[in-house]
Amino acid sequence: MADFNRNFTDEIRERLSIVDVVSRRVPLTKKGQNYWGCCPFHNEKTPSFSVNEDKGFFHCFGCGKHGDIFSFVMETDHIDFVAAMQELANMAGIKLPEKNPRPADVVSREKSLFQICDAAANEYHEKLFSDEGAHALEYVRGRGFSDDMIKKYRIGYAPKKNFIANKFVNEKQENLIATGLCRRGDYGLYDFFRDKLMFPIFNPRGQIVAFSGRSLDGSEPKYINTSDTEIFHKRKTVFGFNFARDAIYRNNRSIVVEGQIDAIKMQVNGFGETVAPLGTALTEDHIALLCKSNRNITFCFDGDNAGQKAAARACGIVMPFLRDNSDVKFAFVSGGKDPDEILRNSGTDAMRKIIDDAVPLVDFLWNLANTNFVISTPGGRVQAEKFLKNELEKITDNDLKSEMIKEYEKRKFENWRKWKRDNNIVNIKIPDVDAVTKNTLVYIVNTYPEMVERHGDFLATLNIDFGGAAAELDLSLNDSEKYIVSLKLQRYMQRLNIQNKELTARLLSGDETAREELSKNSAEIMRTQEKLEQLISL
Ligand code: UTP
Ligand code: MN
Repeated sequence: MADFNRNFTDEIRERLSIVDVVSRRVPLTKKGQNYWGCCPFHNEKTPSFSVNEDKGFFHCFGCGKHGDIFSFVMETDHIDFVAAMQELANMAGIKLPEKNPRPADVVSREKSLFQICDAAANEYHEKLFSDEGAHALEYVRGRGFSDDMIKKYRIGYAPKKNFIANKFVNEKQENLIATGLCRRGDYGLYDFFRDKLMFPIFNPRGQIVAFSGRSLDGSEPKYINTSDTEIFHKRKTVFGFNFARDAIYRNNRSIVVEGQIDAIKMQVNGFGETVAPLGTALTEDHIALLCKSNRNITFCFDGDNAGQKAAARACGIVMPFLRDNSDVKFAFVSGGKDPDEILRNSGTDAMRKIIDDAVPLVDFLWNLANTNFVISTPGGRVQAEKFLKNELEKITDNDLKSEMIKEYEKRKFENWRKWKRDNNIVNIKIPDVDAVTKNTLVYIVNTYPEMVERHGDFLATLNIDFGGAAAELDLSLNDSEKYIVSLKLQRYMQRLNIQNKELTARLLSGDETAREELSKNSAEIMRTQEKLEQLISL
């Protein structure tokens, strides 16, 4: 193996110029003996990165990085030696013997599919700038895409009529079908994408493997994507990853947004490390791909109900990937907007603030437990505890798991204690009485407080509503007065708790208007609880 490697590395070195290899990534200019450019390994504006063609080495006088074509490709592509050798061999046109060579027919079939996708992207791209694509071009420009962006992301237009089916007549029909671009109908092949704004989907190596087409006439669904093929697995593909990989390393984190347009806008606005799952469902494979680089992920979801759900889902999926040095956070774009709109309407700084304000996973999960269940009831607390336990169970790093368990034990003790004490008060069961009796009793009790003294036990068994809101506490009350106030407060507390349950149910079923009411209601419960405690302590 060593021998085989040396032969190949030598041959690759002989065939390739380091200047060619480097200049694919870094624009170089010749000055004197050497070529110069801006160093890809640190940030700089004036070139201190030099390449010596004869010796086959690069050297940066700024950061001291030094190496040959292999280390250059390994470092800039973030791949291992074997993969770098493979890539350079491809460039050099040398065939490396594979360890487990895949059947030649599979390889050549994949190659044809890549070629078809690439050629299709070129055709779509050209169409975007033709008369037929004028409305698509107007649309995509209207959404803030510059021509440079359109070029970089190879955005195109799929015409209304069967375009690929008619254009690619020299390709095998089965291959056209295998790319997902064409389907077989009663009258021959027809195009899957028609009258769509086309976003190519790249694999991590930058090859086009599929497309996402956006409808331009407002028809639903808004996006259609290539179904899974031999070269495209939606569950494993992250949109924008090929462009984001370097930035994910450099910035030591990735940002995950919901939509592909959001990902593109983020990338060109200084958040190069941004990617999007395809469709809204994030999978384990998506996270696994990101975690190959580092385990620092900021999820940035829309502030709507779907976004909240997606975030909760993402949280569940990311748990097994957590390590003690992971930094996973959740950011939300409020006001029914998405990152694209924030960037356009409020600018990069506003977006940066949203990302900076992201909530760490430990807090996000705690918030989920506290908002998804009615913590003021014993049943709700049991459900919340089960939820937390179930989530923490997914952590594979045992030290981290036990530390997280301790953290939540502490939080439960500090935050849920107050609820545990008031159960007795809230759960008093009082028989029902009719309205006239109630009003009469309320009148009597309020007019003749001394009666409460004598008949307190009896009154406590009646379902008496002593008034609307919680009374202001008067600490100079006599015992009977205090008793009435405490009855009032208990009744009020019961109502608040019922309201809390209803509001939580509304929120969980997607009614966002319940959120604010719920927080007001919860605050009122706290206030009432405090009053009750004060009263009891008197
Ligand atoms: P959104 O509905 O949030 O759309 O879907 P968006 O990204 O803001 O789209 P624009 O800005 O109106 O163009 C988020 C993502 O979900 C997927 C797409 O990947 C989209 O980017 N999606 C959405 C589909 O796959 N199909 C759909 O019908 C809708
Ligand atoms: Mn959008």
